[in-house]
Amino acid sequence: MMEEGTIFLVLFALLETASALSFYGDSISFTSPQKNSDGTFKVTFYHRQNGRSNCQDQSSFTCDSGLCSSFVQSSLLQTDTDITGQGRWCQSEGITTATVFANNTNFSVRDSGCCWLSNTEGQTNWTTSADLVLGIRSDTYTLNSCPVTTTVSSLRVPQNCFSSIHLLAHDPDGDLVRCYFSSDAAIPSNFSLDETACTLKGTGQVSTGVHVFELVLKDFSTQNITLTHSDGTSVFLEASDFSSPLCKVKLQFSVEILPPIPSCEAGHVQPMFLSSTPLHGDVLHATVDKSFQLFAQAQAHHSTINDFQVSGPQNMTKEFADGQFGKAEVTLSWTPQHSDLHRSVPVCFTAETNETQSEMRCVVVIVTQASAIKGKAIVHCLPNKMTVVLEKASMPGIDVNFLKLRDPSCSLTSNDTHIMGTMSFSTCGTKLVDKGDFITFQNEINSFELPNAVITRRKIVKIDFSCHFPKAISISSYYNLQDSDYIFTESNFGSFGYSFDIFLDNNFTSKVAPSAYPVEVTLMQKIYMGIQAQSELPNVTLFVESCKATPDDNPDNLLNYNLISSGCVQDETLTIYPSNQTTFNFEVETFKFTGNYDQVYITCSVILCEPGNPFSRCAQGCVSNPSRRRRRALSRETVAHYITQGPLRLTRKNYPNPAVDGNHGLMKKNDIPDTVGPLPANPFPDSPGTKSSQESWKFKDILNTNISTLVFASAFLILVVILVVVIRYFGRKSKAEDQKALIPSAQWDN
Ligand SMILES: *[C@@H]1O[C@H](CO)[C@@H](O)[C@H](O)[C@H]1NC(C)=O
Ligand SMILES: *[C@@H]1O[C@H](CO)[C@@H](O)[C@H](O)[C@H]1NC(C)=O
Ligand SMILES: *[C@@H]1O[C@H](CO)[C@@H](O)[C@H](O)[C@H]1NC(C)=O
Ligand SMILES: *[C@@H]1O[C@H](CO)[C@@H](O)[C@H](O)[C@H]1NC(C)=O
Ligand SMILES: *[C@@H]1O[C@H](CO)[C@@H](O)[C@H](O)[C@H]1NC(C)=O
Ligand SMILES: *[C@@H]1O[C@H](CO)[C@@H](O)[C@H](O)[C@H]1NC(C)=O
Ligand SMILES: *[C@@H]1O[C@H](CO)[C@@H](O)[C@H](O)[C@H]1NC(C)=O
Ligand SMILES: *[C@@H]1O[C@H](CO)[C@@H](O)[C@H](O)[C@H]1NC(C)=O
Ligand SMILES: *[C@@H]1O[C@H](CO)[C@@H](O)[C@H](O)[C@H]1NC(C)=O
Ligand SMILES: *[C@@H]1O[C@H](CO)[C@@H](O)[C@H](O)[C@H]1NC(C)=O
Ligand SMILES: *[C@@H]1O[C@H](CO)[C@@H](O)[C@H](O)[C@H]1NC(C)=O
Repeated sequence: MMEEGTIFLVLFALLETASALSFYGDSISFTSPQKNSDGTFKVTFYHRQNGRSNCQDQSSFTCDSGLCSSFVQSSLLQTDTDITGQGRWCQSEGITTATVFANNTNFSVRDSGCCWLSNTEGQTNWTTSADLVLGIRSDTYTLNSCPVTTTVSSLRVPQNCFSSIHLLAHDPDGDLVRCYFSSDAAIPSNFSLDETACTLKGTGQVSTGVHVFELVLKDFSTQNITLTHSDGTSVFLEASDFSSPLCKVKLQFSVEILPPIPSCEAGHVQPMFLSSTPLHGDVLHATVDKSFQLFAQAQAHHSTINDFQVSGPQNMTKEFADGQFGKAEVTLSWTPQHSDLHRSVPVCFTAETNETQSEMRCVVVIVTQASAIKGKAIVHCLPNKMTVVLEKASMPGIDVNFLKLRDPSCSLTSNDTHIMGTMSFSTCGTKLVDKGDFITFQNEINSFELPNAVITRRKIVKIDFSCHFPKAISISSYYNLQDSDYIFTESNFGSFGYSFDIFLDNNFTSKVAPSAYPVEVTLMQKIYMGIQAQSELPNVTLFVESCKATPDDNPDNLLNYNLISSGCVQDETLTIYPSNQTTFNFEVETFKFTGNYDQVYITCSVILCEPGNPFSRCAQGCVSNPSRRRRRALSRETVAHYITQGPLRLTRKNYPNPAVDGNHGLMKKNDIPDTVGPLPANPFPDSPGTKSSQESWKFKDILNTNISTLVFASAFLILVVILVVVIRYFGRKSKAEDQKALIPSAQWDN
């Protein structure tokens, strides 16, 4: 078999040299390697090659006789070509399957060719390669899967519009992927690579003409793992040790920098993708023997979109249609075969005009068993929150205890018939996505596994849901307001929420109007803030575990100042006003971070408890030694959630001369005292606390106690619920009305 393949390829190669070869780039994607029962390995990879009009095969992989017992290459099939007849690009894909002897610890393929298309750097020879380690991973009990990437055949950007190209870098195992310039190729000048984000960037003006790039993608485990080889030897790999990759795959592509155009505005001459298009990096699911469709839509008001360039698998068909107002759309259809099962297929696309090209978007399509559950889910989009309701009867086997939202600290709740979750647009990992003509708030329900469950790490349930709003308002003003409403759901606590407000005075009745944000304050002025909790459970206690100030809305900012920590007051100007058991009102004098910061955000970590339990975190109050673990068993309480308020903006006229301060201190009236004042556990302590902990309990810990086996564990079946529930909020209303609808109502409507 191997000989046949080789002869075929050699003949092909001889034919090609007659015509002018022109290599535009290539990519290699592996399927998960398999270990056969006789100890040998089955390694399959797909090689996409890009070139001019008629897709010549310019590669000929071989495998050393000591490495492979068989090496089968399928003939190359064209996967995409320029339909405008200009012959600008062509892409083909070929499949190679190798059987690797059991005595190998790794597998490598390598190939090279003479003929990059003519380019500014004068690069002619190209080399492609891939190296993977053949060892069983201690975390997944399987062989490692390589990073998945590709590009469209021909990337083109006008000189004045080039800022970055986002490349696909997906890892099926969830490993870290880094991208590097290959050491054996020249780096075109004024280009750089963000190795973590896998983004090609310009560092100065990039010159017009064609530039060619040879990159290497490497994956690294995020945990310490050992790899066990067939010969019994094992290798320890430390988490994120960037000197020992699990797999290395090369990605080659060319970018043509075109002459400048008058406007780079997306949607003007440059096509812009519209909201029905998947986002770059999205993970989509297809099932064996079922037609999978990917729909993309783009618009360019002042030019004509005449095609979409596509990098996809063999037999994916492309249907192009153009519409009014410079819009055009493409539908990609593909029916995965059984041999595609568990494959992670990269798909990239661009919208093309004669003059230029849209950004490149890439997604990964994961092929699963044809037994996906079709379930019913309903999403309610309200001005300040969204609720998702799943009908249990439509999803047999679904278990609320193993579901979480994108932020794993948010879980769902259920009754006899339904599973429900409620969140605001800023909590539980909800992502705001600018989709061009719409803004979308997206979240997802995923299943998870217990940390010690011995099963695959593949997702069992995935339900995407989102709320769409027409983009008729300024997102920044909307988002600022939105931050004051926090809604969460936990399986043993139901839905609950917090509002965090700034008040005008110490009566805590009149809130600072939303239009007044950012709130202007002067240094050492008293500000009044209040946190209020609402809960489906009627009788709960609010506990404020910590509050810290940061100069931006990132609560993890290393530059921060503690007002309250472990339930203890840390700032001498902070005064707590007594109130009821779901309200926490306090006063603090304003301060500013030294250096060039004029804003302050306050982030508090808050917990709700059922009153009457002396062991709850709420009953513990201020604890000086937070390291002691506390048994949580009998207490019903939420995990700590973070809520943020701000910004407070210091008005310039009142700044004292900025002191020179090297250690990022704070500018305050007094120095921070050494002594720390105690903070009452809550304004209405139910009972004196004895044990203490400030441990922020992870949700998994709650479940750990009484559930030992995963219902899905026995069947290694991958059930994927793919439901994209989209509630479109179509507006025939005026801009002003849309804006009104989007301003969150302050009250809790449930
Ligand atoms: C591995 O095994 C194959 C076939 O059994 C043999 O041809 C090859 O030389 C071996 N390689 C090494 C490195 O031992
Ligand atoms: C693959 O294995 C060979 C010999 O076993 C070793 O020399 C080589 O460095 C390995 N390559 C990688 C990328 O680990
Ligand atoms: C390109 O490859 C050919 C054949 O391997 C070699 O003879 C030639 O020197 C290479 N050219 C460059 C510029 O490296
Ligand atoms: C790189 O960028 C700088 C600054 O924009 C420019 O002066 C220089 O000519 C550029 N180099 C090339 C090779 O284009
Ligand atoms: C990983 O291994 C290193 C070195 O052996 C060790 O220092 C580190 O604590 C380990 N990390 C984890 C998360 O186990
Ligand atoms: C593509 O379609 C052809 C013809 O229908 C078929 O022979 C081939 O097996 C298909 N290839 C793949 C990878 O599905
Ligand atoms: C695009 O270019 C082709 C070939 O050069 C030409 O036939 C066609 O009219 C052009 N389309 C537009 C919209 O300019
Ligand atoms: C469960 O909750 C859903 C959604 O709130 C509701 O429609 C349904 O009637 C509830 N079922 C029961 C049995 O309470
Ligand atoms: C607080 O409320 C009381 C009674 O409603 C009122 O008399 C007082 O002026 C208020 N204080 C402030 C600072 O507004
Ligand atoms: C607690 O006080 C707030 C405001 O002072 C009020 O809105 C809320 O209803 C009160 N809650 C209870 C349980 O009394
Ligand atoms: C709340 O629970 C506590 C402790 O169980 C109890 O003392 C109190 O009366 C309850 N309050 C209400 C309003 O039910």
